[in-house]
Amino acid sequence: MHQHPTPPQHHPLWLPPAPALRGLTVAIAGEHPLLDTVRAEARREGLTLVDDPGTARIALVPESPALPDAGVTTQNAATAAPTETFTLAHTPTRTTVTYTDGPGALYGWFAARRALLTHAPHGTATHRPHAALRMLNHWDNVDIHPHMGQVERGYAGGSIFFERGEVRTSAADLERIGDYGRALASLGINRISINNVNVHRREARLLTDDLPRVAAIAAALRPWGVRLHLSVSFSSPLLLGGLDTADPLDASVQAFWRDAADRVYRAIPDFGGFVIKADSEGQPGPFAYQRSHADGANLLARALSPHGGLVHWRAFVYNHRQDWRDRSTDRARAAYDHFAPLDGEFDDNVIVQVKHGPMDFQAREPVSPVLAALPRTRVALELQVTQEYTGHQKHAVYLGRAWAEILRFAPFAGPAVPGRPSQRAAGASDTRTIADLATGGITAVANIGDDACWTGHPLAQANLYAYGRLAWDPQLDPIALLDEWIALTFAAAPSDPLAATLHSLLDDSWETYESYTAPLGVGFMVTPHTHYGPSVDGYEYSPWGTYHFADRDGIGVDRTVATGTGFAGQYPEPWARAFERPGTTPDALLLFFHHVPYTHELRSGATVIQHIYDTHFEGVERVRAMVDAWEAAAGGVDPGLFERVRERLAEQLRSAIEWRDQINTYFWRASGIPDARGRTLY
Ligand code: GCU
Repeated sequence: MHQHPTPPQHHPLWLPPAPALRGLTVAIAGEHPLLDTVRAEARREGLTLVDDPGTARIALVPESPALPDAGVTTQNAATAAPTETFTLAHTPTRTTVTYTDGPGALYGWFAARRALLTHAPHGTATHRPHAALRMLNHWDNVDIHPHMGQVERGYAGGSIFFERGEVRTSAADLERIGDYGRALASLGINRISINNVNVHRREARLLTDDLPRVAAIAAALRPWGVRLHLSVSFSSPLLLGGLDTADPLDASVQAFWRDAADRVYRAIPDFGGFVIKADSEGQPGPFAYQRSHADGANLLARALSPHGGLVHWRAFVYNHRQDWRDRSTDRARAAYDHFAPLDGEFDDNVIVQVKHGPMDFQAREPVSPVLAALPRTRVALELQVTQEYTGHQKHAVYLGRAWAEILRFAPFAGPAVPGRPSQRAAGASDTRTIADLATGGITAVANIGDDACWTGHPLAQANLYAYGRLAWDPQLDPIALLDEWIALTFAAAPSDPLAATLHSLLDDSWETYESYTAPLGVGFMVTPHTHYGPSVDGYEYSPWGTYHFADRDGIGVDRTVATGTGFAGQYPEPWARAFERPGTTPDALLLFFHHVPYTHELRSGATVIQHIYDTHFEGVERVRAMVDAWEAAAGGVDPGLFERVRERLAEQLRSAIEWRDQINTYFWRASGIPDARGRTLY
């Protein structure tokens, strides 16, 4: 019989024991299950609990004596009353957290901790989350999938929730899940879905046979204010219910889903809801019955709504059986074409979950126009923390900057230059950002697994950290968040040489990765299936709709309205007009929108071909500098961690060189134009 091994001692993430807090006095007033969590936290940190808030170094006090909710909350809608909110007031002798409810107290506690450990805090400020739903999606399979393993696109070992066909519920497993919940709470993340959006036969049974074990996971997360969701299969009525249809308008199908929801809520009273990938990449959906996505989503929504549950219906829908010869089909258009006409048809507890770009989590894509096209629908923004297309957690790539750029994108106003949110298009009146438009919250594909350091690459922890903090407040400076993560994780003051090294390694590492991979927003060029390493034509003649159209004269996809696929026209102004012409398209996205000659001059002044050569040579040198910087840090960090990062940086350098040489050689051969600086091309 297979023995569940005891999970190895896992890394404390950004919450190592804090000697600076030990012995401080804390007063915690009020009653709520999450206040019990805060009390346990205070004890764990070695603080002394006292009764009088007036004398304590840290005081948690309710805003009003009657807490709105002392038990399990099943409320899902963003309510008018401020919830999850707290005010932090610092004087030289006291930090006071005034909270509105249990979650507010928990988040206030962690904010106070963070403030005391990272800087000398002063002043008073009220903190409330930008969105009510701040979520992570785990793409974990129960079974080991023959192609995708235990965690689809997972680069950090196996699943913390499942192992070899079973739900993990040993004491050690639940302890680790609790520690994960603690880390999530420290960031303000309040929801997770625990299984893959591709729901196979075995995984469908999480909704039935496995419910008691799933309930044990929900119980381990509950003290941290984190609610559990499940991904479900649209075919569940056939797979689990013995029905011969999954037609959303069929009464027996509706009854199946009502029963399923009732059963789940009996086991898990604060269950969050269902996540579903339907009619996408082979997953079943309503199309088989000539029904719409709205019919499908509302079917699940009506089963969940008596319990206050939510449906996250993914908008990642496109034709993955495309013929590369057919230039009239454009995958980038698909989500908008499917969902924009359905605006207003979804029930209130449906959230349409939209990937940040129109394609698929590339290192650089324009922001999806779908988020601005559904004013009468709750939409969630979906990001990817796991590094599927950004180096598989072998490459050090800090994504905070990329996400900040997406969250601050203002589809109706500019900014005139991506990455410079202050430069709004002149005269714009509607300055709402993507974060504002994501009324259904923010979610992301998680990057953790049962690896002892959680994330495979120890520095990839910074991405989980930044994601959670940005989901709470999209206005936070991603580079300040990087420093915050460094300070908390390594207990390193900014003046510490280790902090400077870590900062230099990660600061512009997203741009570094971009520089040695697919150029100018063209995307893909990765090895098919694994999505790791270069393969310029790997997807060029495939059915997945991911083409670059490079020939001897030029490269890029014409997505203009005038001569191309029309995708640029899915944006509101001013972006529709900006993306329509190469001269007003940001350089970083040029090849996403335009097919141009290699001699085309970028806004930067370089030609496309010279830009390709320059960035690829520079990218490798930047990685070399990262390797050297890390070598110089030897002795300053835990030796195991040092070695792990060193080994990954060596692989990053090897891979970057491979990328450089394949990309440069491909375009040298295609264009016949030599490098103006005479560097080696093969
Ligand atoms: C990508 C990824 C798949 C995943 C899919 C999704 O295509 O490669 O593994 O299933 O996105 O988001 O559903």
